Amino acid sequence: MKISLDLVEMTEIPADSAIYVSGSDIKRILYGIDIGVAELQYAKENNYDAVVAHHPVGLVNHYKVFWQHLKQLKSKNIPGEEARAVIEEKLIGFKFGAHARNYDSIPAFARLIKMPFLNIHCPSDELGRQIITQAIEELCKKASYPTLDDVIIHLESSIPEFSKAQTRIEIAKGSSSDQLGNWIFSHGAFTNGGFTIANLYYKYGLDTVIYIHITPADLFQILSIQKGQLLITGHLVSDSIGINPLLNELENRGIEITVLGGLLR
Ligand SMILES: [Fe+2]
Ligand SMILES: [Fe+2]
Repeated sequence: MKISLDLVEMTEIPADSAIYVSGSDIKRILYGIDIGVAELQYAKENNYDAVVAHHPVGLVNHYKVFWQHLKQLKSKNIPGEEARAVIEEKLIGFKFGAHARNYDSIPAFARLIKMPFLNIHCPSDELGRQIITQAIEELCKKASYPTLDDVIIHLESSIPEFSKAQTRIEIAKGSSSDQLGNWIFSHGAFTNGGFTIANLYYKYGLDTVIYIHITPADLFQILSIQKGQLLITGHLVSDSIGINPLLNELENRGIEITVLGGLLR
């Protein structure tokens, strides 16, 4: 956990990440984007020292990381008041969604079999946000008016994980010859901002919002308004881009890692 926080200069464990069962002297790790009881049992039987998930598995307050959208919205000159109102509305849905889920099923199993277990979400997503944002900034320095297609070609050729994914970077709204214009890669804030956050970016002059995934309902709402373009980079691949630097760092320290659960290494 500490190594992942250090990679993005975070000093506290964010609300969507946690150590469920602590452990020490970790030499072999099973690492996945999603971890369930089967993976925990497999790790126990095969002498792993710890299991790490990307997505939170047992937290009711994980959605508070959605407040990270505020910083990103403000960085594009969106008024704080308006941004806060949109975020607060989204939080109501996340809160009662979390209430409905069984938050202790998987951690309880890890405790029962005494398997060290943690999940690291926001620190890895923040790193992924930085990596993909920097790649697009690089393109914008080289080409004065890049198109959506230029962005896709540049990301796919400069970040190796994209060639390992079954998904492609998709233009969910717009056409390949449209200019990228004023843009944001909105990621690392628990989950995507759906229609309401994208709409706020469009309202304040952004041409292109880039998410890693979106629900069909939010997408149809975005498609129903006149303005704005939307790129979708792909869920597992974009999560993997933020996780792999941590895996490299762990391997440099002599830790053996087995990946599964959708992680593209
Ligand atoms: Fe993620
Ligand atoms: Fe994810």
